[in-house]
Amino acid sequence: MAAQTMEQLVSLCKRRGFIFPGSAVYGGLQGTYDYGPLGVELKNNLKLAWWRANVWEREDMEGIDAAILMNKLTWRYSGHEETFVDPMVDCKNCKMRWRADQISGKCPNCASTELTEPRPFNLMFKTQIGPVPDPESFSYLRPETAQGIFVNFKHVLDSTSRKLPFGIAQIGKAFRNEITPRNFIFRVREFEQMEIEFFVRPGEDEGWHKKWVEDRINWWLSVGLSRQNLEPYHQKPEELAHYAKATVDLLYRFPHGLEELEGIANRTDYDLGSHSKDQGALGLKARVSPNSHSTDKLTWFDPETKQHVVPFVIEPSAGVDRGVLALLSEAYAEEQVKPAPVDRLKPVEEALGTFLKSVGRNEKLPAQAKEALLAEGERIAHALGERLPSIAGLLSMPGAESIEVAKKLRGQVDPVVDEFYRTVLHFKPHLAPIKVAVLPLKKNHPEIVSTAKSIRRKLQSSGAMRIVYDDTGAIGKLYRRQDEIGTPFCITVDFDTLGEGKDAALANTVTVRHRDSMAQERVAISELETYLREKMQSGA
Ligand code: GAP
Repeated sequence: MAAQTMEQLVSLCKRRGFIFPGSAVYGGLQGTYDYGPLGVELKNNLKLAWWRANVWEREDMEGIDAAILMNKLTWRYSGHEETFVDPMVDCKNCKMRWRADQISGKCPNCASTELTEPRPFNLMFKTQIGPVPDPESFSYLRPETAQGIFVNFKHVLDSTSRKLPFGIAQIGKAFRNEITPRNFIFRVREFEQMEIEFFVRPGEDEGWHKKWVEDRINWWLSVGLSRQNLEPYHQKPEELAHYAKATVDLLYRFPHGLEELEGIANRTDYDLGSHSKDQGALGLKARVSPNSHSTDKLTWFDPETKQHVVPFVIEPSAGVDRGVLALLSEAYAEEQVKPAPVDRLKPVEEALGTFLKSVGRNEKLPAQAKEALLAEGERIAHALGERLPSIAGLLSMPGAESIEVAKKLRGQVDPVVDEFYRTVLHFKPHLAPIKVAVLPLKKNHPEIVSTAKSIRRKLQSSGAMRIVYDDTGAIGKLYRRQDEIGTPFCITVDFDTLGEGKDAALANTVTVRHRDSMAQERVAISELETYLREKMQSGA
């Protein structure tokens, strides 16, 4: 089961510290999000998995980390200054601004059809360079990391003696002044990309393009996305970016719909050719603007043919934030631990009905918030037995806190959820923000607590994984809290561990509880590190 609605994810992410709206204390900044304590772990794990697979485990790849600020000429010759634009319209009635190709002639805010003619809007953020605000002292925040790779092509080639085919990989921030940021972290103004520029001989590009599409699908499967949620889409000629000869998008079934997660483009010799001097002598296949500023020829000297070659480029370009969203969505499940009896569901059903009536009657709620609350409330009410945990998400949606009966509904729901349900993130272990939680059965028993803390310290000192200690609730509640953030293993220290239980043979052992199956087994403390390492490697 994956997330059914974006609200489920937004609510969990905020509640448990994965992702927060940016600049919230000042009313927010549209199109920005901040990663919290668990979000940064998840994001770092995703980036590390990508780097490991694409740089460490390949023999034909180098990595770089280029500056975000680049000479503004980069953006002239890359074509972004002229072509990185969206057609945009303003609503004459409510003054909102929209992308013309996304609204079919009607303002989504006020439904007016009084719109301006579409005008081009450059998506790059302009920024001043240096202390003097002179009109020439500016550059842009990079809208893609790729250009940092192209302008370093010769540096990497000369410092590593690479031969074609080889690639350069980079992970870094990119910025786009999106007209309509939306769908949580799906479309934002500041995001991260994981990009590869793979340089091949002209003529070998189509074969490599095909191969990279397969590789990238397999990699997304290896981090836990399921094949039925991934769809390759071959862009039509009129959809191609200015630099591309062909592009295959990998679409993912996000809660808001099937949309792009990664693009794999055949950029031909456009970029290296565009940034080169002496273009006329290079036999370029792509049409590029004449470059009068470049100081170098971005070519590879082929020792066999004794000729300078401008490589073609295959570019797999994935969004880190969209990757995080896909992982969260795929991993999310609301599960019944045991069936809730009818007499426990009935009061929740009534409280939910009262809440929805109250939302419907409320005249102060903005129309959009009211509509969203009613839609999500009705979705839950339709199959209350299955969807009851989603009420936590419903109650954290905009406007819910202003409904008087919200508190009563929460009071009815929380004890039933605690007893009969769990929300769980079924992350692959290597992506889980926390790998192991060490829990004392009793937090007021000094020996249990000190044993648990020393196990945590010892496991943590191995350096291989993030381990936490938690004693902030009863054991059942602690398991649920770890399930909700996707921790694959919980270790419980109890009286048996101390040799004070019924079975003396269990002394110096702990309970290891598995997130997905909820199965429990006893493991000797002395074997824990090896046990966990093996489980982690096998992905269990
Ligand atoms: N260098 C090629 C390039 O930038 P793109 O299709 O414009 O191509 C690549 O972007 C990836 O970056 C997308 O597939 C998406 O995952 C991510 N991306 C693009 N714009 C984004 C935005 N506004 N918010 C979040 N991710 C974005």
